[in-house]
Formats: sequence, C-alpha cells, structure tokens
Amino acid sequence: MTDKATLTIGDKNYDLPILKGSTGPDVLDVRKLYGDSDHFTFDPGFTSTASCESKITYIDGDAGILLHRGYPIDQLAEKSSFLEVCHLLLNGELPTADEFTKFERNITYHTMLHAQFDSFFQGFRRDAHPMAVMTGAVGALSAFYSDSLNVDDPKQREISAHRLIAKMPTIAARAFQYSQGRPFVTPRNELSYSENFLRMCFSVPAEDWVPNPVLTRAMDRIFILHADHEQNASTSTVRLAGSSGAHPFACIAAGIACLWGPSHGGANQEALEMLEEIGTVDNIPAYVQGVKDRKYKLMGFGHRVYKNFDPRAKVMQKTCYEVLEQLGINDPLLQVAMELEKVALSDPFFIDRKLYPNIDFYSGITLRAMGFPKEMFTVLFALARTVGWISQWKEMFEDPTRKIGRPRQLYTGATQRDYVGVDKRG
Ligand code: CMC
Repeated sequence: MTDKATLTIGDKNYDLPILKGSTGPDVLDVRKLYGDSDHFTFDPGFTSTASCESKITYIDGDAGILLHRGYPIDQLAEKSSFLEVCHLLLNGELPTADEFTKFERNITYHTMLHAQFDSFFQGFRRDAHPMAVMTGAVGALSAFYSDSLNVDDPKQREISAHRLIAKMPTIAARAFQYSQGRPFVTPRNELSYSENFLRMCFSVPAEDWVPNPVLTRAMDRIFILHADHEQNASTSTVRLAGSSGAHPFACIAAGIACLWGPSHGGANQEALEMLEEIGTVDNIPAYVQGVKDRKYKLMGFGHRVYKNFDPRAKVMQKTCYEVLEQLGINDPLLQVAMELEKVALSDPFFIDRKLYPNIDFYSGITLRAMGFPKEMFTVLFALARTVGWISQWKEMFEDPTRKIGRPRQLYTGATQRDYVGVDKRG
C-alpha cells in the first residue's frame, strides 16, 4: 500500500503524501505543491478538495450514510433529543445523566435576550424576510454580549457557543412573532428546548397555549436532522470567517446569510413554492418536462454529496406523515409531492444524474402543517444548524495548525497594461 502519489509536471516528479481518515476516501496532501512546483490546484466548487480535517460529521454520499461523532442520524433522530445531539456535536460524546443535567441547565438559563434587544427588533420593517432579521439580529449579539468575544479564551468560546444555542430559538421566535405583528413571548425555563420554542412562536396573550407532544417531538426531530452536515457552503463560510479570528456571532451571522441561498437552506421554501405552483397531480408531467428542458430545477431534489439517497429525507418523510396524521390534515400538496417523487425516480433524466429527494422535499409540507409560514422554514434550519456551525468553529480554533483561509485563483483577466487618460479612450 503506497502512502504517496507522484505528480509529474514536465520532467519533474513531485511526491504528494496520501493522508488516511478513520473512514472515507484517502486524501492527497497538496499543501507543499505550490512551494515545491509553482503550481496551484484548480477546484471551483471544491468538488475534490478537503478544506479541513474534522472529527465531527461523516457522510458517505453513495451509501446514504450520515454519522455525527460516529452515530447514525436515524438512530439519533429516533432515540435522542436535540439538546443531547448538541452536546454530542460540541463536546464529542453523548452526555452522562449528570453532564446532560448541567448542559441543559446551562442552555436553558441563557435563553433570555437583553431587554434592549427588543428595541433593536423594532428597527426592522414588519414585512422584512425573517432570514434578513436573523442575519442582522445574530450579528448584533456581539453588541449586547461583548464579554465573550475573546476567541483566544476557551471559556469565552464556550460561553458564546452556549449563548448561541440558547438564544437562537428566542431570536427566531421573535423574528416570527414580529412578522405576524404579535407580542414577543418570554422563554420558560421548565419547558424543553423544542417545546419552549413552539410556545414562543405560537402562544398569544389572549388564550392559554396547549402543548402537543407529537408536534414537540417532530420539532425536536427536525432540529436533529438539520444539526450538522459536514463542510457544506454555510459551514465553510463560518470556518472561513472564523479563520481570520472574527468573533463567533459575526461568523454565525455569515453562515446564516449563506444558508439563505436557494441552492442551500433556502431550498425548503422554494420546494414548497414549487409544489404550490404545480398545484395538482395532473400538472406534474408538464412540470417535469420543464425541468428536463432545463427551464428550472426540481427543488428539494439532488445533492452535492448524496448520490443514492439522503438519509435525512427518509426520517423527514416519516415525520411528515406523523404530523399530518396527528393534526388530521389531508394536504393535497402531499399527494403532489408523493406523485412527483414517483415520477422523477422512474425517469432516466433523474436516474442518470442520481437525483433523489433531499431533506427539503418533505420538510416544507411538515412545517406548513405545524403552522409555520414558508418564510420561516430557512430560519428553523438556521436555528438547528447553529450547533453544527459553532462546533465546527470551535474545532477549528482548537486545531493548532489553524491558518487563515486564503484560496488562490486561476487568473484569466488582462495582463499588466498602462493607464490611459479618459480623452484617449474608446
Ligand atoms: N433538478 C434538475 N436537475 C438537477 C437538479 C435538480 N434539482 N440538481 C442537479 N441537477 C442536474 C444538473 O443540471 C446537472 O445536469 P447536467 O450534468 O446535465 O448539466 C446534474 O444534475 C448535476 O448537477 P450539479 O449542479 O453538478 O450538482 P451539484 O452537486 O453542483 O448541485 C445542488 C447540488 C443541491 C445544488 C443541486 O442538486 C440543486 O440545485 N438542487 C435543488 C436545490 C435543493 O434542493 N437544494 C437543497 C440541498 S439539501 C439541503 C442543504 O444541505 O442545503
């Protein structure tokens, strides 16, 4: 078994060490390539590039496997809770009973926001997209909690991580209530993480709020399914922002901004809008033809890494059925989604390109049934992904080999030329 590859450029050979992970493909180490050979590698979209070493999340896209610290996502979604998964991602292990009590208390007692934060919210227009509010509000945390911004202090890093996990539901619920013109709801310490969030979103002063255990469980499971996903675009954004030493609230705000894009977290809103646009099962063939004619993409389909199935989509589909059944909702869009999935999965266009439903295909229908407007879908994704982002950020800081992220480029613009005065141009 060789532990190096040899690259030949012209008449020179360069040895590239081969690094082995605990599982997954081996990696060619090109760190010294530029210094030794004066050549860069070219990989826009990072399809063949590992940007870091990590011990947090492993994905085997061909086998449809997603592991957090070694634990399969379906086991976590079935047996664990979101806060347990937060501890796992952040600290590397599932907590003991004592560790969990301490962790849960730590998070619970950080859920409130500084009282002045409410005035800050009033500055946003009521019709602002809640993701715009989230980006601004999370970035503004540094103005309210400036005592935990020293990234070189492990204790301050921990406090910031706990603050983010704890305050995200409060900020997300406020973004929702604000857009609905309803008063903000203060968190309650006796409630679980997900129940507290649902109460902050849906309780109104005019009547008592009644918890629904099926919806609380579904919310918790949706949070687990979105908690982390390796080096995706938003996580890479968080790491890149953090590599300069930027404080964690700024890095997470950058991650939220990236997540909003329709190819990433914004796809759940777009997937539901697509199902609404299709409307009825009869319209599916014409819509699919439009996809094949490349007029638009099938939202909630395809993934950069999963080329067989998205293991999160299976759990999401099951959760979707449970929620609709519990609420007694017969959503015609579910019929459209099921038929669309069937049609696409038997069509050579999608089979040849290995396009399968991803997590966003069924999450929109579920969240809509739970009472969330579609503008909130990506906010819920951001809330859940915060623990993944901050765990990856923390891991990067604890890596002694950390360097500022600084990709290079293949330059194809003009070569050096002399400035020409405006009277001599054209
Ligand atoms: N509908 C139709 N065609 C597609 C789709 C789609 N959803 N996704 C990919 N393709 C085609 C694409 O046109 C290309 O065809 P060809 O080779 O003939 O040019 C081929 O499949 C390969 O696609 P790609 O663009 O090279 O794949 P990618 O890995 O760069 O893109 C993706 C991955 C997720 C951005 C893309 O599949 C997509 O845009 N999907 C729709 C948006 C979506 O659902 N995003 C949510 C992803 S899961 C949640 C998350 O983690 O954020």
